[in-house]
Amino acid sequence: MDYTIHSLRKIVTNNGEDWTKSFLSTFECSKGRDAESFLKEKSIEYEERGISRTYLALREDESGKSEIMGYFSLAIKCLKIDDKRHKAMPDDLMALLNTDRGIAQAYLLGQLARADGAQKGLGAAMISRALEMFKASSDIVGCMTVRLDCKDDLIPYYESIGFRRIGGHYNDLNQMVTIL
Ligand SMILES: CC(C)(COP(=O)(O)OP(=O)(O)OC[C@H]1O[C@@H](n2cnc3c(N)ncnc32)[C@H](O)[C@@H]1OP(=O)(O)O)[C@@H](O)C(=O)NCCC(=O)NCCS
Repeated sequence: MDYTIHSLRKIVTNNGEDWTKSFLSTFECSKGRDAESFLKEKSIEYEERGISRTYLALREDESGKSEIMGYFSLAIKCLKIDDKRHKAMPDDLMALLNTDRGIAQAYLLGQLARADGAQKGLGAAMISRALEMFKASSDIVGCMTVRLDCKDDLIPYYESIGFRRIGGHYNDLNQMVTIL
């Protein structure tokens, strides 16, 4: 796959907000319209407020023009481990979460999307990159847990790349975790 990863923050710094918004408006992901609209409508604001960091997978066409093949967003969001969830969780995983008074700290893979027409497998490659970034952060500040929230349909996909589902639904989403 021919792409390079770029920080949205740097793109805004180098090109300005108006140019960046117009560039992001070219992104299409028909399988994930929520993820598409996050990139177009919220990612720059979240970057400015420090809520998340977004990274774009870019490919240059023959004329040197960049095309967005996919993106992912990283953040921090704790996990609530209530009694029900605690009981449903395997002991080995529970031990790794370092829960303190019902809260486990976690890195969040908040968004992930592959553009229409981008090669299958790019999503998994972006997850590997995201985990490398979390690992670098973990080496500096600690925390070994990575979480994400997904719809039922995507559970098998995330399980196939090493995430485990914990507990039941919260707001119609499943919490999945992996340990770095
Ligand atoms: C999730 C995603 C990044 C994975 O990319 P990838 O690693 O390149 O893998 P693929 O796109 O081939 O998807 C793998 C499988 O996941 C499942 N899947 C992916 N997105 C799905 C969705 N939105 N709803 C239901 N199933 C989905 C499908 O079974 C798919 O296999 P198929 O296309 O052969 O049926 C990509 O499919 C995507 O952009 N989906 C839409 C946005 C999205 O749902 N993001 C996840 C939010 S938690």
